[in-house]
Amino acid sequence: MVRAWHILQEETDDPRDALYSDESVSIEELAQVGVEYFKFDADTFEQNDDYLKLKNDRGYSYGDTISVSRATLPNFDAKIKSFFEEHLHTDDEIRFILEGSGYFDVRDFDGRWIRIECVKGDLLVLPAGIYHRFTLDKKDYIKALRLFIGVPVWTPHNKPADSMKERLDYVSKYLTATTAN
Ligand SMILES: [Fe+2]
Repeated sequence: MVRAWHILQEETDDPRDALYSDESVSIEELAQVGVEYFKFDADTFEQNDDYLKLKNDRGYSYGDTISVSRATLPNFDAKIKSFFEEHLHTDDEIRFILEGSGYFDVRDFDGRWIRIECVKGDLLVLPAGIYHRFTLDKKDYIKALRLFIGVPVWTPHNKPADSMKERLDYVSKYLTATTAN
């Protein structure tokens, strides 16, 4: 089950100390802003038919693992800072958590932050064009499989990137439709 909350108050000294809403954000609410959530056994997923079908149906042809910790990630402090800058990508960001944990924050249609806790076995798909950011939690470690269609492009485009095609496409697909309903 997805674990997500609205951030009520940001904490500037340490983003991991943000204050959250009591009420959680549902998987349906995440879907409204284009975020998808799946769960697989992280020890057996490579033999899991549902996982293989998802990977095949979507054409996730590329995969590598990233280990985010002070010991394993070069330029750790700079990388962590850049992960937490609000940004978007021109392609979906797909992460399957193999070990450890962390938080993905995404903007809802009102511009409020939703914080999504990611732990082992969670597979998260953030659509191209969504503003988001990432932070480790206080255990300071996550290992994730990064999936991609074709040759990977990880480039972050920091906010504001409102005139980018992928942002305009995202807004018209998710945010405009939500307002019209
Ligand atoms: Fe990102």
